[in-house]
Amino acid sequence: MKVQKIHHVAYRCIDAKETIEFYRDVMDMDLVLAIAENEVPSTKEPDPYMHIFLDAGQGNVLAFFEIPNSPPMGRDENTLGWVQHIAFELASMGELLAAKEQIESKGVEVIGPTDHHIFKSIYFFDPNGHRLELAANVDRPGALEKLHEVAPAMIEEWSRTKRAPRHAAFLHEDEFG
Ligand SMILES: [Fe+2]
Repeated sequence: MKVQKIHHVAYRCIDAKETIEFYRDVMDMDLVLAIAENEVPSTKEPDPYMHIFLDAGQGNVLAFFEIPNSPPMGRDENTLGWVQHIAFELASMGELLAAKEQIESKGVEVIGPTDHHIFKSIYFFDPNGHRLELAANVDRPGALEKLHEVAPAMIEEWSRTKRAPRHAAFLHEDEFG
């Protein structure tokens, strides 16, 4: 099996129209298509839903469901707010800084840029409470290859100790500054 790319990922939204407008106005993402039904396909029970598909670039699709007859959506209260998020890639640091300005100009609070050594990121929330990240890769010659190489040993150590392994400490050294 050879997976080609992410076909789509789907999350719940509070309001499909408001979600489309946010991703259009704040992130310049277009609506690709919508699928709606008034019944659950398997049981034929009446339960309208709206399923929207947004263009996340290069054939990647971000989808949402509005399911108005279900209880209000919450979040996983046992998981810290920064853990679950959707990250999109921008082409350069210049674009990342311009994006921060654009998003803030729409009244959305933005955190960052945060330096992750091989990329820098900004963070904000969509109207549904989903945390979003925009990331721009930083050129650190050899860093990705090194990280790939030490990853299995890091996981092995982590599974035993539940403490952060030191294999990637080189990222903090001057060489990769
Ligand atoms: Fe992330």
